[in-house]
Amino acid sequence: MTARIVCTLPLPDPAPGLLSAAAEVEVIGASPSRERTEALLREGVDVLCPQLGDRVDAALLDTGLPRLRAVCVYAVGYNNVDVPAATERGIVVANTPGVLTDATADCALGLLVASARRLCEGDAVMRAGGFTGWRPDFMLGLELRDSLLGIVGFGRIGQALARRALACGMRIAYADESQPPVPADLAPHVARMQLETLIAEADCISLHVPLDESTRHLIDEAALRRMKPTAILVNTSRGAVIDEVALVRALQQGWIAGAGLDVYENEPAMAPGLAGCRNAVLAPHLGSATVRTRAAMAELCARNALAALAGELPPHCVNPQAWSAGAPPPVR
Ligand code: GLV
Ligand code: GLV
Repeated sequence: MTARIVCTLPLPDPAPGLLSAAAEVEVIGASPSRERTEALLREGVDVLCPQLGDRVDAALLDTGLPRLRAVCVYAVGYNNVDVPAATERGIVVANTPGVLTDATADCALGLLVASARRLCEGDAVMRAGGFTGWRPDFMLGLELRDSLLGIVGFGRIGQALARRALACGMRIAYADESQPPVPADLAPHVARMQLETLIAEADCISLHVPLDESTRHLIDEAALRRMKPTAILVNTSRGAVIDEVALVRALQQGWIAGAGLDVYENEPAMAPGLAGCRNAVLAPHLGSATVRTRAAMAELCARNALAALAGELPPHCVNPQAWSAGAPPPVR
């Protein structure tokens, strides 16, 4: 039996070479459809490499049985995969953590600076011929030095943003229920806060939590109303961590000063009214979008897939218990 891998979208180098050396690789292409994925899974596939817009639920996993052994996402976030359902079916799920930490933290910092200093609003003014000359009171924003940055979710990316924000002279607080270890270089400079306090006191809030049922709409209408009216909200995690409809009202009615968003609740769509909010900086999910990071993610994704084919736990497996009864034999 020839090993078979399905990628819903083409992966960058070096993934194609690595994968095709070990298996027959089918790439669905431009607009992966659920029907096409299901049809291929029914024919027999060992490893599925979906994208973060592809929902991998119990029904889809069932169409891959009995052969499907691994789902290797090309992302650090795997909220699109029903991991408990995969575990029940003996299917391992793997992701690509670590290699996109700096790129995503850079993106969060960019959104933070652009929102605080109103750079995109200013860009629009320039293009519309609205700049009539320097004035002392024109387009004043929030100064980062001494402002309090509240980081929600203090894992790899939250910590990488903290390092960058310290270089801007910001004060840093974080909220994280999992109480992650804080590296020695950051420990003297960051304060742990309850989320409620952080929301009320921070001048800027940046979200770095995974999306799950405990974080869906973590920033809801009540949280937005408790933020300072001068505050900036940045999101490079997953759109649904914010109630986007409530956020539009917050931006329109001045409950908060601005937002820098890279992710949306119903990507690629935006909540009605968001596009008209000049106090929102809107990026099209670019967090990990650098040439180097995307190549590193491709390599990790491929290494995960190759390990699964070899009957070894993928290096970045999120549910090793799926194979607690023993790994499947190698397939070549
Ligand atoms: C991108 O959003 C990722 O989770 O890697
Ligand atoms: C930011 O734009 C602010 O006015 O605080």
